[in-house]
Amino acid sequence: MRCLVTGGAGYVGSHVAQELLDRGHQVVVLDNFSTGHRKAIPVGAELREVDLGNVEETKYLLAKEKWDVVLHFAALSLVGDSMNDPCHYLKRNTETSLNLIQACVEGGVKKFIFSSTAALFGGENRVVPIPDDAGIEPGSPYGESKFFIERALKWADKIYGLKFACLRYFNAAGADIHGRLGEDHRPETHLIPLAIDAMLGRRPLLKIFGSDYPTNDGTCVRDYIHVNDLADAHIRSIDQLEHKSVTYNLGNGRGFSNLEIVRGIERVSGRSVPWEWGESRIGDPAVLIADSSRIRKETGWNPKYSSLDDIIGTALHWREKNPQGYNE
Ligand code: UFG
Repeated sequence: MRCLVTGGAGYVGSHVAQELLDRGHQVVVLDNFSTGHRKAIPVGAELREVDLGNVEETKYLLAKEKWDVVLHFAALSLVGDSMNDPCHYLKRNTETSLNLIQACVEGGVKKFIFSSTAALFGGENRVVPIPDDAGIEPGSPYGESKFFIERALKWADKIYGLKFACLRYFNAAGADIHGRLGEDHRPETHLIPLAIDAMLGRRPLLKIFGSDYPTNDGTCVRDYIHVNDLADAHIRSIDQLEHKSVTYNLGNGRGFSNLEIVRGIERVSGRSVPWEWGESRIGDPAVLIADSSRIRKETGWNPKYSSLDDIIGTALHWREKNPQGYNE
């Protein structure tokens, strides 16, 4: 397949691009490097430096070249930032995605994979684990922007027959099992890389946000899913799109509390993580755990790196080998 990967210089996008290449597909990465890293683009992928805000360039790329599938990762993705600047998030994420969807329709693309999120499930009154058909209640403008794009894709299917997969990741974590790629957000806001950096002495300490959530130890619970398992889910989802569109929740179906993550890092590394309590973070739901039975049943997806040791071990390995991240 010839695949266009938008945001392919970012964390999840680069791992999916690598997996596609490993399986013999042709990959072209589209990125504007607002948050992505040139060094994260896997060897063997071509690059088109295009901003999806530019309608003409986006349309030109989609029309000029032939694509079997478009995988769309490029987005603003910080929940906290979206609470500080909601209109910017809503505008930018929806506008760039609509530009891309329209360009795909006009360019004759038939299959579209969309990077969606568990941030669609912001409300506290819902079933856990969360099935794909659970009620949507975005907890942030970031989640709202992703929900809008999911609905735009439904219309694009209904009106133009563009088949899509909306993949709602719970907490993407870990690093390429062969050590080629890893997680390097600037600024970093995610628990596992921050805790690893505190353990390695690259940050003074980790703050654990909130101690009075209604969970066993009072800290938030999340469903961490290895980025290589996510990549596998993307490729399996492409096969589903011959005749139908799909929406899948992607997680391991098991939750770990923030304190369990810290203890896991201490166990895997044999070193202590310096931490202290911090204020609860606005918009953080207490528990997010996925019910991924639909993708398992329909595609045979079965996460391979589901243990906390695999997730933490690969993240730690990459961070130790790349103390400055991608160092650009
Ligand atoms: N946390 C801390 N201290 C920190 C950073 C995080 O205690 O310094 C806590 C958070 O409060 C939360 C947990 O660690 O309880 C996980 O936080 P992350 O920031 O790592 O991940 P989130 O669950 O907030 O968000 C992630 C992605 C979102 C996505 C969401 C879906 O970043 O894009 O998962 O579950 F929407």
